[in-house]
Amino acid sequence: MAKQFDVLVVGGGPGGYVAAIRAAQLGFSTACAESNPYADPKGEPRLGGTCLNVGCIPSKALLHTSHLFAESQHAFEAQGIKVSGEVSIDVPTMIARKAKVVEQLTQGIKGLFKKNKVTFLAGHGSFVGQVEGGWQLKVGEEEVIAKHVIVATGSTARHLPGIPVDNKLVCDNIGALEIDAVPQRLGLIGSGVIGLEMGSVWKRLGAQVTILEAMDSFLGAADQDIAKEALKLFTKQGLDIKLSVKVGQVSVGEKSVTVEYETKDGAQTAEFDRLIVSVGRVPNTAGLNAEAVGLKIDERGFIDVDAHNLTNLPNVWAVGDVVRGPMLAHKAMEEGVAVAETIAGQKGHTNFDTIPWVIYTSPEIAWVGKTEQALKAEGVEYRVGKIPFMANGRALGTGDASGFVKMLACAKTDRILGVHIIGANASELIGEAVVTMEFAGASEDLARICHAHPTLSEVVHEAALAVDKRPLHF
Ligand code: FAD
Ligand code: NAI
Repeated sequence: MAKQFDVLVVGGGPGGYVAAIRAAQLGFSTACAESNPYADPKGEPRLGGTCLNVGCIPSKALLHTSHLFAESQHAFEAQGIKVSGEVSIDVPTMIARKAKVVEQLTQGIKGLFKKNKVTFLAGHGSFVGQVEGGWQLKVGEEEVIAKHVIVATGSTARHLPGIPVDNKLVCDNIGALEIDAVPQRLGLIGSGVIGLEMGSVWKRLGAQVTILEAMDSFLGAADQDIAKEALKLFTKQGLDIKLSVKVGQVSVGEKSVTVEYETKDGAQTAEFDRLIVSVGRVPNTAGLNAEAVGLKIDERGFIDVDAHNLTNLPNVWAVGDVVRGPMLAHKAMEEGVAVAETIAGQKGHTNFDTIPWVIYTSPEIAWVGKTEQALKAEGVEYRVGKIPFMANGRALGTGDASGFVKMLACAKTDRILGVHIIGANASELIGEAVVTMEFAGASEDLARICHAHPTLSEVVHEAALAVDKRPLHF
């Protein structure tokens, strides 16, 4: 006999597990199916999806360890801290600590499921058909019927033809987070978010890092002022970022990988001890039996959804990386909550204009809203306020005063249209901009708000003042 639920969520990543918790909070009998091949100590698939297992959380754990190591190499001396003997990195301990953080968080979601009465179903979910009472799916060997289905199957790394990923010598995000010794020469294909974050980790730990990027511009999605500053700072840190690269033959040897590529300067060859392929991600829709029920997938492989995340099928919804929009954990969570609330008859909503982006390099990069180049292209008249962290006492006190805050506001209404930050703690500072923009705030609103002193947030305050050409400390 089939198990029956009001809501079945397929996929237990940030989009799926949050949708399941919210649906249960709203009083629906809810189940969440997860087929992650990485088992927990009980042999069950781990919840948390890409984000907790092989994405956001483990990458940030490694970024933190490598940042501490880099500080010991470059920042201690200037502040009078002397270390007797050499500071060294024990990579297996770093990886084990990361695994412990992942374990704690993924198990934590099982605890949240219990607390919120979400039924966890271990197994791969796929559609069988529409039946009386809802949709029938198979989860592992079990039959499940649910009135509403939320597909949250996420994404996996895109691979390139002719570059076999074994997650030993040639890695995608999964292998990149398990490297067990500092590679002397690390190559990365793609200078996007993963390329920069993983490149930073291993550069800080002593690797010689080369990033091969196909595009002729760097960080095309970011405000180009920020991208220019980032390229300058990352190059100074020793990341060798090559643009306009056409990767050719890749030959995998016993201990190294040889990459042939072309740049404007002609044909080149490089040998790496490890190669990371970070050229974007593809949505997971294979195996859902989508065709059998007529679930519409668009030409790029994403499940087609409307503004409320409803698919072309009644009561079948989809959220997160498997649908259009940025592939970010917080976007997936927002959509998960919005769908659960829409099912409950509320006004669930995701505001795509205020989704923040963060790149956890050093300095961090964060932005929300429109870039200056987008405003120019749209013919919007705007005013700019730009303040460097060099003008901030707290930043100077910490010894890291690189970067700036740039605020863009409508020339007519003063409404904030975009905030772009490169600097320490940009990931936290951007929150203030997100809140102000969510409330349709003006630069003057921020300028008139009292900011604690001494804090880095004063640079955001000064940038707001600078929009009106009246900064006080610059
Ligand atoms: P996923 O997290 O991919 O989860 C989908 C889940 O569904 C998986 O667990 C999968 O096993 C399961 N599944 C798939 N098919 C089925 C099926 N048929 N039946 C049952 N289960 C199924 N985002 C950020 O916002 N901040 C970051 O710092 C960040 N860092 C990242 C670092 C890396 C290295 C990577 C790779 C990604 C990072 N991301 C980050 C992106 C973030 O991980 C994703 O946007 C987010 O995980 C998407 O959530 P999701 O729920 O849509 O999908
Ligand atoms: P990405 O889309 O950020 O960057 C991919 C890069 O590879 C681009 O610059 C692209 O031009 C380049 N590229 C594509 N094909 C290429 C080729 N054949 N040769 C050379 N370069 C090529 O993708 P990435 O870094 O793989 O990350 C995937 C996604 O995961 C991100 O878009 C983001 O949504 C998410 N993510 C988010 C993080 C965060 O929020 N801090 C951290 C890591 C990942």
